[in-house]
This record gives sequence, structure tokens and C-alpha cells, in this order.
Amino acid sequence: MNVLTVSNLKVWDNRTGKVMIPNSSFQVKQGSCLAIVGESGSGKSLTCRSIMRLHNEGVRQSGDIVLSQVNLTKLSEKEMRKKRGKQLCMIVQNGMRAFDPSCAVGAHLKETLSWHFGWSRDEITARMKKAMDSVMLKDPIAIMNSFPYQLSGGMLQRVMIALALVLEPDIVIADEPTTALDTISQFEVVEQFIQLRAQTGCSMIFVSHDLGIVKRIADDVLVMKDGNIVEHGRTHDIFSAARHEYTRYLVSSKLKLNQHFNKIMGGDSLVHH
Ligand SMILES: Nc1ncnc2c1ncn2[C@@H]1O[C@H](COP(=O)(O)OP(=O)(O)OP(=O)(O)O)[C@@H](O)[C@H]1O
Ligand SMILES: [Mg+2]
Repeated sequence: MNVLTVSNLKVWDNRTGKVMIPNSSFQVKQGSCLAIVGESGSGKSLTCRSIMRLHNEGVRQSGDIVLSQVNLTKLSEKEMRKKRGKQLCMIVQNGMRAFDPSCAVGAHLKETLSWHFGWSRDEITARMKKAMDSVMLKDPIAIMNSFPYQLSGGMLQRVMIALALVLEPDIVIADEPTTALDTISQFEVVEQFIQLRAQTGCSMIFVSHDLGIVKRIADDVLVMKDGNIVEHGRTHDIFSAARHEYTRYLVSSKLKLNQHFNKIMGGDSLVHH
């Protein structure tokens, strides 16, 4: 069964008439993780923002986006606001941008959770504390009292994952959530995303440039180029027998990079496993 069905998505700039995504259709299976890969400017972020219906000014979309039997494109902005966070959750590249710099991290969490669930302060603190424990954030109270700039990028991403653990959305949309992190934090955050899916049973869209991460986390892969989906299949099939020339190029350039890295650092290529 599919939790999300995107049909004939078109995205364009209303001011210039430029079409960024001409006609895109894909599905996300219940409980599965779909990775979106492709070069810079291929339309990965626009696809994510279309599902959230959160575009920059002047950007328009058409087509159907059905999440758990509800066509999101038919909802009013007010109805959509109830869905964001609670049913579909977005985690972006720069954790800092998700937070207002002038408020303590806990204030964001409290506002979001009391708005969606009407929980008391104590209930929110108790639930966030438990969720932060499970993403290995030590001293949850200190973290909630911190301002965003006092926390590292990896910690902020884990706060977002902890929030998603409490919100239990149907789908988590992660747009390059590890790109801005150092290698060790990247590894930890990817593991927390895997835990999030295991614990809540949520589905996931995971945008990444890192094919090693894609291999680790995704069941299916969608390859985009110039606003079009050029390939869509099981992760294993894409890596072992890509049909499209562009996908083969992506996989082979990653292999070359790994081979180079292995030569200087030792070890075996991630892509081979
Ligand atoms: N607000 C906007 N107005 C006009 N064009 C836009 C807007 N946002 C994105 N685009 C264009 O749409 C195309 C797709 O952009 P998008 O941000 O989805 O790419 P991406 O695949 O996420 O790239 P990256 O890997 O760099 O994040 C690009 O050509 C971009 O210039
Ligand atoms: Mg992007």
C-alpha cells in the first residue's frame, strides 16, 4: 500500500513562466524510505516543498498529492497547517534555519506540541525528555533551555528527530539533513533517522547527495535530472543495474570517488557492500 501518491506534479515560476518540474509522478510505500538523488538544481527540494505546499513566493504547483487517502492539494491553508508537523514533517539541511534564533529550543517544541495536541507544559517536557534520550541527546532540559546557536548542527538535527518521534507523522521528508554535518555526526544522524522509522513506523523521503547514505537508509531510489524523474526503482537494483545512463554516471562517479578515498585512507568502498 502507498502512503503517498504524487501524480502529475508540475511546478513553475509564476513570474517568468519557467517550468521547473514539468510532470512528475511517484509513490512512497507505507513504512518505506524513498531516496531522491540527482545533481544540484534537478528539482529535489522543489519536490519536497510541493508535498509540504511550502513554496517560495511566486512558485506555483499543480497535480495531485495524496497522503493517507487525503488529497493535500484540495485543502485550505488552514487545514494544511494542521497536517504539517502532525502528519507530514520536514527536516531541512540547516537545522539552525528551522528555529527562530531569538527563542530557546524548548519554546519551539512547546509551541508546536501544544498547538497540535493541546498538551500541558509538563506533559510536553516529559515526552520530549524521553524522545531526546532515545536520540542520545544528553541533558534534555539543558538543551531545551539553549538557544539554537548554542547547539551544534548535529544536535539540532537530533532535536528535530526527537520532535518527530513525539509527533509520529505519517511521513518524514528530510531534505539533505546531513549535508552540513561533519562525517561522524552524519553517521549518527543517519542512524537516528533509521531508529525514527523503526520506532514510529513512519514512511520517509530522504534527499541526499551521498550514495553511501542512500544505500544504508533507502528501500527505493528516485533519480532526478532537470526536473524529470529519469529512474525509479529498488535501491539494490539501482546500484547494481541502473538502466538510465545518468544513474550509471552517478553511481560510477561515486565509485571512483570512493576508490580514490580508499586508496589514500584504506578500507573498502561503501558502494560495494
Ligand atoms: N523560488 C524559485 N524561483 C524560481 N526558480 C526556482 C526557485 N526555487 C528553485 N528554482 C529552480 O528550480 C530548479 C530546481 O531547484 P531545487 O532547489 O529543487 O534543486 P535541488 O535538486 O534541490 O538542488 P540542490 O541539490 O542544489 O539542493 C533549479 O533550476 C532552481 O533554479
Ligand atoms: Mg535542494
